[in-house]
Amino acid sequence: MDIDTFFAALWDDYCLLAPEADAIRGLFGGASVQNDHVAFRTFDHPAINLSVLEQPLLELGYRRDTPYQFADKHLSAWGYVPARLSDPLIFLSQLHIQQLPEQAQGILNELLHDLPSPSVHGAEVFYSGRLWPAPSLTQYQALASCSEYAAWLAVHGFHANHFTIAVHSLGVSLANVVDKLSSMGYVLNSAGGLIKGSEKELLMQASTMAKNVKIDLADVQQYAVPGCYYEFAERFYKQDGQLYQGFVAASASRIFESTNAMS
Ligand code: NI
Repeated sequence: MDIDTFFAALWDDYCLLAPEADAIRGLFGGASVQNDHVAFRTFDHPAINLSVLEQPLLELGYRRDTPYQFADKHLSAWGYVPARLSDPLIFLSQLHIQQLPEQAQGILNELLHDLPSPSVHGAEVFYSGRLWPAPSLTQYQALASCSEYAAWLAVHGFHANHFTIAVHSLGVSLANVVDKLSSMGYVLNSAGGLIKGSEKELLMQASTMAKNVKIDLADVQQYAVPGCYYEFAERFYKQDGQLYQGFVAASASRIFESTNAMS
C-alpha cells in the first residue's frame, strides 16, 4: 500500500472514534497540518504482537529506532522512524497479557482464542478494528479495573489510538496550543501536568482526554467507552542540529492515560 493512502485511510477511521479530531485539526491548518506521530496499541498474543505488526510498517519503509518499557502499565513499545522525513513517526506498544492478574488473563485468552497464528497482515490491519469478539460488560469492567489499556484495546481493536500535531511546525509554542484548547473548552489530560516533558528532554507533549463513543458489547448495545484522543508534540533540536525523533518514557506513560474513563 502507498503510504499516503495508508495515512488517509487511517485518519478517516480514527475520526469515527475521535469526534473532536477534525475540528481541532481545523484550528491548526486543517489537512495540511504536519503530523508528528501516530500511535498503535496491541496485545503480545503471537498472532498480533509487536514483531508481527511491525512487518507492514517495515514494508512502508519504517525502521525501528528506540525501545521503551512501561513496567507499571505492563507495556513495552518501539518508536519507528519513516524513510521520508515528512511522514509521521510511529509509536507501537504492546500489552504483556501474562503480567496481568489471572482473571484478566483469562478474559483476554478467551477473547483472542480464535486468532490465527502465525498471521500475516498488510498495513490495513491498523484500521481493521477488532479481530476478536466483543467483550461482555462484566469482562470490559474487569479489564478496565486492572488495565485501561487492555479494556480500550479489547473493545476497539486496531485503530490509530491518536494522531499528533507537530507543534514545532506551527510557529507557536505548546503552551499557546494548550491555552487555546483550554479556552475553547476542550478537556486536556492533566496527569503529570497539562504539559509533559521539557525542552531539556527535547520533547514536550500534551493531549486531549478521549471523549466517550458508543460501542456494542456482547451483551449491551451502545455502551459509552473512551474513544481516541488527539496529541500535540513540540520537538527540539539535538546538539547535532537534527530534530529529536525519540519519545520520553515518563511522558508517554502519562499520555497513555488519555483513554482512562473520566469520572
Ligand atoms: Ni503519542
